[in-house]
Amino acid sequence: MGRLQGKIAVITGGNSGIGLATAKRFVAEGAEIFITGRRQEELDRAVEAIGARVTAVQGDVSRLDDLDRLFDTVREKSGRIDILFANAGLGTFAPLGAIDEASFDRTLSVNVKGTLFTVQKALPLMQTGGSIILTGSTTGAMGTAAFSVYSATKAAIRNFARSWALDLKGSGIRVNVLSPGATETPGLKGLVTPAEEAALLESLAAQTPLGRIASPEETAAVALFLASEDSSFMTGSEVFADGGAAQV
Ligand SMILES: NC(=O)c1ccc[n+]([C@@H]2O[C@H](COP(=O)([O-])OP(=O)(O)OC[C@H]3O[C@@H](n4cnc5c(N)ncnc54)[C@H](OP(=O)(O)O)[C@@H]3O)[C@@H](O)[C@H]2O)c1
Repeated sequence: MGRLQGKIAVITGGNSGIGLATAKRFVAEGAEIFITGRRQEELDRAVEAIGARVTAVQGDVSRLDDLDRLFDTVREKSGRIDILFANAGLGTFAPLGAIDEASFDRTLSVNVKGTLFTVQKALPLMQTGGSIILTGSTTGAMGTAAFSVYSATKAAIRNFARSWALDLKGSGIRVNVLSPGATETPGLKGLVTPAEEAALLESLAAQTPLGRIASPEETAAVALFLASEDSSFMTGSEVFADGGAAQV
């Protein structure tokens, strides 16, 4: 028996990186999953890679109509949600002095508004014993050069979990934050040009006490812990999967 046998899970941003690795792991542990993302081609590729018990619903988490369509599909197909992994997120590098309004609006809209309404619209389908996992980042707890807007969104997400744990008091639904450190994903590599990629990964590994960055599968293993009964007495918490980067 898998650790998520018979569970229904929704993973936003499930077509790439941490979300895709988690989708594969949740299915391997017995869950039936729904994944989202804006790019249909990547969703198709992900469905093929995951192989079974997966439904892809194309959509943008910052668009409330898309979220309604996602949860309508979940309601029709499965009738409930046991695990919600609000993982979709993005960022761009820009130091103070060079932050433009469009990238500020996009980052806030996807990471903060998208996370909030993903959770709020999923709630009517969530069950007692359900687990909500928000995706934070080590950057939410630290200063990071040229990354203040993204980092502020992750700090906001950290407070969402603290406050929502109170709003959900008595419901039997838990909400926690999974905060990865540098994890080798298309999203991380896409922060820089291909020519700058090796230097970025090297410098992030050097800043990490374990001396390397994470694989998406290592981060997915922590998502599995927060999704499963193993974390049944945890709510409002932040769990770092960061090789020690934000702990020292
Ligand atoms: N990798 C790291 O080092 C790291 C560290 C700390 C935290 N994180 C966080 O971990 C999460 C996953 O990141 P990742 O590194 O795995 O990046 P990734 O490979 O770029 O994956 C991001 C996922 O989010 C989806 N997405 C982005 N914007 C979306 C939107 N508006 N609506 C729906 N889906 C959207 C993307 O699909 P589409 O492009 O098709 O929409 C993709 O599936 C993010 O919240 C990120 O901030 C990552």
